[in-house]
Amino acid sequence: MSDVVRYETDGEIAVLTVNYPPVNALSHAVRSGIIEGINRANADQGVQAIALLCDGRTFIAGADITEFGKPRREPSLRDQNEVQEDSPKPMVAGIHGTALGGGLETALACHYRVAVPSAKVGLPEVKLGIIPGAGGTQRLPRLVGIEKAIEMICSGDPIPAAQAAQLGVVDKVVDGDLREGTISFARDLLQTNAELVKVRDRTDLLAADPEVFSNARAFWAKKKRGFEAPQFCIDAIEAASTKSFDEGMAVERELIEHAMASAQSRAQRHLFFAERQANKIPDVPKDTPTRPIHKAAILGAGTMGGGIAMNFANAGIPTTIVEQNQEALDRGLGIIRRNYENTAKKGRISAEDVEKCMACLSGSLDFDAAVSDVDIVIEAVFENMALKKEIFAKLDAACKPGAILATNTSTLDVDEIAAVTERPQDVIGLHFFSPANVMRLLEEVRGQATAHDVIATCMGLAKRIGKVPVMVGVCHGFVGNRMLHAYSGQATALLYEGCQPQDVDGALYGFGMAMGPFAMGDLAGLDVGWRIRQETGKTSPIADRLCEMGRFGQKTGGGYYDYKEGSRTPVPNAEVAAIVEEEGVRKHNHRREIGTEEIIDRTMLALVNEGAKILEEGIAMRASDIDVVYAFGYGYPIHRGGPMCYADELGLPKVLEKIKAFHAAGHGDTWAPAPLIERLVAEGKSFREHDAS
Ligand code: 3HC
Ligand code: NAI
Repeated sequence: MSDVVRYETDGEIAVLTVNYPPVNALSHAVRSGIIEGINRANADQGVQAIALLCDGRTFIAGADITEFGKPRREPSLRDQNEVQEDSPKPMVAGIHGTALGGGLETALACHYRVAVPSAKVGLPEVKLGIIPGAGGTQRLPRLVGIEKAIEMICSGDPIPAAQAAQLGVVDKVVDGDLREGTISFARDLLQTNAELVKVRDRTDLLAADPEVFSNARAFWAKKKRGFEAPQFCIDAIEAASTKSFDEGMAVERELIEHAMASAQSRAQRHLFFAERQANKIPDVPKDTPTRPIHKAAILGAGTMGGGIAMNFANAGIPTTIVEQNQEALDRGLGIIRRNYENTAKKGRISAEDVEKCMACLSGSLDFDAAVSDVDIVIEAVFENMALKKEIFAKLDAACKPGAILATNTSTLDVDEIAAVTERPQDVIGLHFFSPANVMRLLEEVRGQATAHDVIATCMGLAKRIGKVPVMVGVCHGFVGNRMLHAYSGQATALLYEGCQPQDVDGALYGFGMAMGPFAMGDLAGLDVGWRIRQETGKTSPIADRLCEMGRFGQKTGGGYYDYKEGSRTPVPNAEVAAIVEEEGVRKHNHRREIGTEEIIDRTMLALVNEGAKILEEGIAMRASDIDVVYAFGYGYPIHRGGPMCYADELGLPKVLEKIKAFHAAGHGDTWAPAPLIERLVAEGKSFREHDAS
């Protein structure tokens, strides 16, 4: 009798129920248990049909990812699927929660499928850098046709039950109790002598013009730049179209084995677990009590305040935005409305959703009244310590006891801000990334006094508003911006030494970054850094000269690049090139040819070296947390797994050798090797092993 798959009968129906928390992943025990249950049902004279259900929050959410990379144990998922499809008694899958990956493949190998209205089904393997490997690429096209299968498998996005029913992935959406609905569906099959449908035998939807595949390859190469897995998916689906089921399965197997062994898949699986690991804070266990969050206030309706408020409105949390004057408030609320309306125009939300979100938001100029009864305040006013201190002193006086007082500062000392209040335990940094309604990262900055229940509440809140939280400590720039400083420093140094902006940006875009540092500077506005330099007496000759010419970036039609009216495409400018040359020669007397490899090494390893220092100081808890910060906040290519994962793939001895060479060449103080890297190399360990220890 299986520990994880229960066998029961309800009259002539055998009910197999998988119970393997948290998500009923298809571990070896589950696969064996399902096969055992089917064999038992087929041997049981009183049984005429089999229902497959799951306990807990979801139907099977996929293969057990923790088994990947380990020796395969029979029976495989393919063996299990074969036993299901070959069962002489009809099998019906009853789906709730999410039937994902191997979970959907298991359902597709049943003869019929029913689902509750809230269920979702999909093949998200591509998000782990692999392809569906247990017939998903062969069976799904047989049900939904080639083009729809390409879209579903290459995007990896699940679809809701109603759409799955419309496409023929599930046979019926059942209201009410799923177990009863599945059993009654099975009884109907028996009563009507319904055919035993094997998806593998269907061929009516498989014909496709070869152009469908070449077009799909081009489309997905552009949409998922640098990712290999969508291309493998298309190869496998093409085999479904042109070959027999068994031959197609052989192609799928070869492709998944190849994908599974790739660096990209290792990186994507690393990020899957890293994202979940980041939720775990050793001294703040899962059962830490939390504070209720029913109402929020945001201070400042600027770039960040507006975006942050949208996150709260999307989650249905009533939120008041506080500004200094009516004009700023109207402008901020107007931008929010326009953002929602643009999303509605693209068909992503309805006009009703726009009004629902806007109804969650209100504006106020009355600071004390607006913050007096809220559960959390997020301050997003100008980046100025004196102003932030003034605001936090006012919050301390006006907020109810127990309210969480958060700052969105991107660099400043959260402890210094907390110290002006009588309640530093309630103060935390919640560092959103621009555009705050889009970027998924939320760096949460714990101060020395931040209370455990504040931390637990804010980690939970992040999930509620759709963010990926990473808990970090206090230092200038925290994790992300401190590392960015080292990265931008090297990018700028490369300009002085011999590159043009497009050389650096081109190399990094080719590496997979969403955009290069100079295009990013033009997007964010070069005047921001210029003003700070003027205030602090610092200089940056190339950027300063661009700003003196009024070249602030995209908003003025030019910065490091030119931008044609209405276009965001950077176009190199000859005058900028001359300034770069001139300032480079002024600094170094000469310029040299610099190749792509050096550009990538100098920028990427600057991130790694600073990341290692941050890790050693305890500002980040794990190397994998740093990877999450970069992947979700800075456009680092997901298929490289983040900077620390990239360093592990290169091998830390090689990383250290390069860092030492840059140090010796005098490429700036960034290159003093992080002692942690030296230690790990001496111990023969990787960052991943460091995290595990
Ligand atoms: N295998 C092993 N563990 C898994 C898992 C899986 N497929 N899916 C989730 N988990 C674990 C998580 O690591 C997490 O563990 P933790 O609590 O120790 O951190 C726990 O289950 C809960 O996961 P979430 O925090 O993500 O829970 P949510 O409720 O937010 O989300 C979910 C649930 C939507 C199912 C989400 O976990 C998910 O998307 N899982 C991955 C699904 C997937 O990619 N399936 C395809 C796998 S590959 C495959 O099937 C190959 C096949 O074709 C051969
Ligand atoms: P912004 O200049 O766009 O907006 C600031 C807003 O605060 C203005 O609308 C201003 O009128 C308002 N304000 C100033 N004093 C106020 C007061 N006393 N009461 C109420 N409102 C007041 O600035 P931005 O870019 O939104 O930055 C805000 C904060 O977020 C800063 O601390 C910044 O460092 C941080 N941040 C900025 C990011 C960015 O990319 N812009 C990214 C992450 C954090």
